[in-house]
Amino acid sequence: MTSIDQSGTFKLGGRTVRRLGYGAMQLAGPHVFGPPKDHDAALAVLRAAVDAGVNHIDTSDFYGPHVTNRLIREALAPYPDDLVIVTKVGARRGEDASWLPAYAPEELTRAVHDNLRNLGLDVLDVVNLRIMIDPYRPAEGSIEALLTVLAELQRQGLVRNIGLSNVTAAQVAEARRICDIACVQNHYNLAHRDDDAMIDDLARDGIAYVPFFPLGGFTPLQSSALSDVAKRLGATPMQVALAWLLHRAANILLIPGTSSLVHLRENLAAASIDLSDDALAELNNMAESAPSA
Ligand SMILES: NC(=O)c1ccc[n+]([C@@H]2O[C@H](COP(=O)([O-])OP(=O)(O)OC[C@H]3O[C@@H](n4cnc5c(N)ncnc54)[C@H](OP(=O)(O)O)[C@@H]3O)[C@@H](O)[C@H]2O)c1
Repeated sequence: MTSIDQSGTFKLGGRTVRRLGYGAMQLAGPHVFGPPKDHDAALAVLRAAVDAGVNHIDTSDFYGPHVTNRLIREALAPYPDDLVIVTKVGARRGEDASWLPAYAPEELTRAVHDNLRNLGLDVLDVVNLRIMIDPYRPAEGSIEALLTVLAELQRQGLVRNIGLSNVTAAQVAEARRICDIACVQNHYNLAHRDDDAMIDDLARDGIAYVPFFPLGGFTPLQSSALSDVAKRLGATPMQVALAWLLHRAANILLIPGTSSLVHLRENLAAASIDLSDDALAELNNMAESAPSA
């Protein structure tokens, strides 16, 4: 068994993917804007991920914009049959690299067509509707009008499965009354666990939960407890952070982002890390909001 197989598999839309995947956002330039520092290195990271068995890649046409999708196409098309590419719509970039909502029906429709063209696909496997009521955290508000536009694009055959990103539990419930939801992608990691209840609810219904910032995002996780556990296990802190997420719930799919081949290999090797009960207890206490044991 190769190390990435040890992460197991879970259903994403109608397909089954390995639980250790790859997030492509870090391949764009600084602030996820413009071209990568090293174009060939970016292609090499994508190819190495797929060679290692990754069959779930997360992207968006607003990374760059257009940059990560074009890199994915250049590196990987024609795509392996088992590769599931998940993209997202609902945002656009300002000229100053800001993240802005792109909610109008024509903007959502254009985003789907931009993703299709830049990825070189006839149909998108999974499209996450990225909610921007507050760009930095889930915030309440109806998403029905936006989802109805996406559901129409699904009926036209341009989108196979619909997911949600940056959403509250109430928005997930509202969405599920409108169409099937394949996955939810929200901010979650060892230190940031607002979605504990949501993860368990989705697990009961067989819906994938895909944490973004699994390593802490632009400021990777740092904690003495995490470093201590990693040292005892002969692993790196980032590997332990990923192993904890794999252990947290069977419906969690990982998309750690990196622009580095060394980090990619390190992250994929997290699949073979066993966390002892002691290590788990220490890690479980790391959450900012963890109740004192
Ligand atoms: N839906 C949303 O709103 C949303 C938001 C953010 C991200 N995402 C998706 O989620 C994916 C993951 O999030 P993310 O990439 O922002 O954050 P992340 O995976 O938590 O962390 C990425 C950061 O960690 C560094 N890193 C990666 N592996 C490392 C290692 N082994 N050792 C040390 N540093 C390491 C990366 O730098 P190097 O490049 O130097 O390795 C980068 O700075 C993205 O790629 C994107 O597809 C979605």
